[in-house]
Amino acid sequence: MLMRQSCRVPTAPVKLAVLTSGGDAAGMNAAVRAVVRSGLAAGLEVFAVYEGLQGLVDGGDRIRSVSSADVGGVLHQGGTFLGTARCADFRLRDGRRRAARNLVERDVDALVVIGGDGSLSGAAELRTEWPELLDELVGDGAIDQTQVDRHRRLSLVGIVGSIDNDMFGTDMTIGADTALHRITEAVDALQSTASSHQRTFVVEVMGRNCGYLALMGSLATGANFVLIPESPPGPDWETAMCDVLHSGRGIGRRANIVLVAEGVRDINGQPVTAAHVRAVLEERLGEDARVTILGHVQRGGSPSAFDRYLGTVLGYAAVHRLLGSPDGEPQLVGIQGHHVTYSPLTECVARTRSIASLIANQNFDAAMAMRGGSFTDSYRLLRTIVQALPRHLEPGRRALRLAVLHGGDPAPGMNAAVRVALRVAMDRGHTVLAVADGFRGLLAGRIEPLDWMSVSGWVSRPGAELGTNRFVPCADDLSDIAAQLEAHRVDGLLVIGGRTGYLGAHRLGDRLAIPVVCVPASINNDLPASDLSIGADTALNSIVTDVDKIKQSAVASHRCFVVEVMGERCGFLALMGGMATGAERVYLPEEGITLERLSEDLDALRAGFAHGKRLGLVIRGDGADALYTTSFIVSLFNHESNGLFDVRGAILGHVQDGGQPSPFDRIQATRLTAAAVDHLIAQAGSDDPASAIVGMREGRIEFTPLRDVSDLVDDRVQHPPASGWWMALRPLADMLAAGER
Ligand code: F6P
Repeated sequence: MLMRQSCRVPTAPVKLAVLTSGGDAAGMNAAVRAVVRSGLAAGLEVFAVYEGLQGLVDGGDRIRSVSSADVGGVLHQGGTFLGTARCADFRLRDGRRRAARNLVERDVDALVVIGGDGSLSGAAELRTEWPELLDELVGDGAIDQTQVDRHRRLSLVGIVGSIDNDMFGTDMTIGADTALHRITEAVDALQSTASSHQRTFVVEVMGRNCGYLALMGSLATGANFVLIPESPPGPDWETAMCDVLHSGRGIGRRANIVLVAEGVRDINGQPVTAAHVRAVLEERLGEDARVTILGHVQRGGSPSAFDRYLGTVLGYAAVHRLLGSPDGEPQLVGIQGHHVTYSPLTECVARTRSIASLIANQNFDAAMAMRGGSFTDSYRLLRTIVQALPRHLEPGRRALRLAVLHGGDPAPGMNAAVRVALRVAMDRGHTVLAVADGFRGLLAGRIEPLDWMSVSGWVSRPGAELGTNRFVPCADDLSDIAAQLEAHRVDGLLVIGGRTGYLGAHRLGDRLAIPVVCVPASINNDLPASDLSIGADTALNSIVTDVDKIKQSAVASHRCFVVEVMGERCGFLALMGGMATGAERVYLPEEGITLERLSEDLDALRAGFAHGKRLGLVIRGDGADALYTTSFIVSLFNHESNGLFDVRGAILGHVQDGGQPSPFDRIQATRLTAAAVDHLIAQAGSDDPASAIVGMREGRIEFTPLRDVSDLVDDRVQHPPASGWWMALRPLADMLAAGER
């Protein structure tokens, strides 16, 4: 994912400034921390600019040289500890001239700006005008020609920090995932009141011109109707909305949720307010409706695991871009899948703004298309899932019977996956059969049809309602399983699960006459053919929440904690959890643990605590080493700490696979399973059905033939290999950890 560390070229900057600007977004602190520590590690002097672009204009002590310690302990904080502002002065040339002077006076000619499109375009303007501004400053006698000669150009990299996720050049903007957490928590909470009173809640979410938060918030919460700017309500949208909600009541739905994006307008360009939606529902349906405007709650709170990761990776990449190509056009550093990307900043801003113009000019199809494939697909999918009842099978097509089961350990999001499997398959005119308790239940014939409403509310439900276990059928079981499938006239099998689920599917796959499609669901993220599996994000967020608390306890008592996280033979949770919490050491199964390493780490801890360090944090993946267990490491460190610190262990255990699924896992479960069901239907209807695994690769949904992952059947093979994509983050984790010491 990450670039190799660039060598310093002669023209590379030696002083760098970083600032946050525009609306605050959770995860900005992670980005600032990564910029500062990456800059320092590359030998630069780094300045922090406080209060956003206004701080650049004001100068003085609003621009200060910072050390690694200045960015310690900020990862878990919401907002931006540098402060931010929407700055009117910077829109004026005089403001930008003052900013240029403040930078040149400090010998700074490289800038990382973390903000929304307004802040980034302002910074790009400063960069374009830079030579002229410097000439003007020389003319005014504010700076001299030697300063100009030293700083002929301003190097600029932008990182998008905005909850709106509205920017070209990146799949995700910093803060959007955390905002989805806030929306999901709020709507989950409203569901219980809505359900108790049989009420409708109309919930307004932020996003300016972009419907991302409303759309993904709807997928993640199971909202029943959504209004977004890119697809404005048609001439009689009120009737369409009332029909959907009314028929939902007709089949027994107790809670109705309508999500309204703040920027939505009707076909005449008039704003559609939550209050209007409520009035329509009360007048036409006699609904007991309430409005909740989530407002700035969405921007607040501790950043999600993903936003900490995203901020960290982008901050690191921004510095290396500045060092590697200081004279180039300003770049926006973004992410696609798990790859860092660079795009021309001014073009990204222009294209982002063109969507707003398309919406204003009512060219909605083009606006929707410009949001990209996953946005459009998600919108289409949402319209299927929210229907109160399935549509009918197209004439001439055979109704299929599709069975769904789990295999492996529980993973948050499994219920969301079953819900969407049922809704998509039934909407296509097919029947879905639930198999209780995985392959064991299949063998025993515990197979029952599900109906449309039986999965109501499952999008947020923890655990796995169908039941799951690690039972893997053996060769002797095959004929009994085939007999059960035949008795229940099953045309295709959907396996939503982890490694043992995949193993079972692999054993059956080519021997059955019907196709099998596997959907990755495992907190370990150790499955082939997908970058991420359902449940891993929830587990990571659970780790982050718990480790944040452990750190608070540790700092109060000058302790070192050794925290054990799950993952078995895969270090995903340990490495990502370590990066998201600021752990200084991470032990991974891909690398193992040696006595030499333990001894080095002990030396570093002793040295740190002897020099005033207040807390230590080590994360150990549970499969990191058979001998050097967590309790061994705790005893060793305690015994050898020379009385400088004491050590406690914390094994997080099964809290990691419990709890409500994160928004990302709900959305991932919904998108992957919907695609898997369509694939299964196509295969089941074909003359030569083939079994497959669905996965998310580099941000896109892909299918891999099940037979191609034959190493699954070999238990001696490391799953996944040590080259799991996150292992490329190891150098970054080490560099940041060094700053923590
Ligand atoms: O751009 C982020 C955002 O939160 C938008 O979603 C919202 O429209 C706007 O900022 C609110 O701005 P302010 O915080 O200035 O009221």
